[in-house]
Amino acid sequence: MRQTRLLQADPAGIAEAARLLLEGELVAFGTETVYGLGADATNDRAVAAIFQAKGRPHFNPLICHYPDADAVFAHVEADDRARALAAAFWPGPLTLVLPRRADCPVALLAGAGLETLAVRVPDRAAALALLRAVGRPVAAPSANRSGQVSPTTAAHVLDGLGGRIAAVLDCGVCEVGLESSVLDLAGGTPVLLRPGGLTRERIEAVVGRVGAGITPAQVEAARGLRSPGLLVSHYAPSLPVRLEAHQVADDEALLAFGLPLSGAAVTFQLSAGGDLGEAAARLFAGLRWLDAEGGRLGMRGIAVMPVPDQDLGVAINDRLQRAAAPRSASIPPAAAIPPAAATGPGATSA
Ligand code: TXA
Ligand code: MG
Repeated sequence: MRQTRLLQADPAGIAEAARLLLEGELVAFGTETVYGLGADATNDRAVAAIFQAKGRPHFNPLICHYPDADAVFAHVEADDRARALAAAFWPGPLTLVLPRRADCPVALLAGAGLETLAVRVPDRAAALALLRAVGRPVAAPSANRSGQVSPTTAAHVLDGLGGRIAAVLDCGVCEVGLESSVLDLAGGTPVLLRPGGLTRERIEAVVGRVGAGITPAQVEAARGLRSPGLLVSHYAPSLPVRLEAHQVADDEALLAFGLPLSGAAVTFQLSAGGDLGEAAARLFAGLRWLDAEGGRLGMRGIAVMPVPDQDLGVAINDRLQRAAAPRSASIPPAAAIPPAAATGPGATSA
């Protein structure tokens, strides 16, 4: 095990993080959505190391991060819709899936060998400064072990990946708290592959109708085909999660939204006033906290109060359904993935 350094997001810390990335090291950094586990996207070995550190199945493609839209569109083919969305929402919590340009220098492993690439410009000053300093795209999935809840603080990152990566750039708390919305623009009608920090309504206001989102149940049915990263239990705490709770038992931990149900031994309030933005920002921290506290107190599970399925509630419910999905029905725990599979053939040949 190596020591993972905690770097402050000041000019010296950002310069050091950039230096490490250019040397092929892994550095986690905060964005407005969640912390990303960054690697130089043009370096096959560095990208392979991401999969290894996360214990992620190798077929899952990663998002490449850029400091601005011009840098993005030098690597992928943009049409009018992509340019309009970029103008409206970048920097921000929107990832676009677009065809790679023929001369795109991003490692094939980062895109899992697909002809498309997922790209975005994060809305966080320190992250943008880091991307500018690196001068290359940075591939970054959420900075958690595969199958765990995404991190929204530097401490969360260290919980899961401490000792496995070179450094974490401490960018404070992620204000959106949910991953970006992933929109596929590589086909005819745009398709929302993953609901996230930007609502469907706001996307549709720019590009018109967006194809049906994929629910966790549909993903389970068509697992791995279109967007292999969308495995159902992608965001799972270790305590079982029960959704749509209208009552809570005294041996359950409660994730509350609005006026809390009475009777729970331990409660985490997403938003007392029923604000979906506040609830989104607090969701992953709440799941982590209840998992730890509930586990410590011997609770048998986490009960989740209903969250309205509108606006950011759509993305919140998507993550909650994944958190509630049975582990056995999706990916094996990291420890069960043999080293070769955890790294993938692309990694050893890189
Ligand atoms: O907010 C976010 O998006 C965070 C921060 C760090 O930027 N990143 C993140 O990355 O959530 P990750 O790797 O956990 O999720 C990437 C998602 C996966 O669902 C993956 O399947 C999908 O994007 N994806 C990536 N490339 C794709 C492609 N070429 N076609 C379809 N889906 C793709
Ligand atoms: Mg993730």
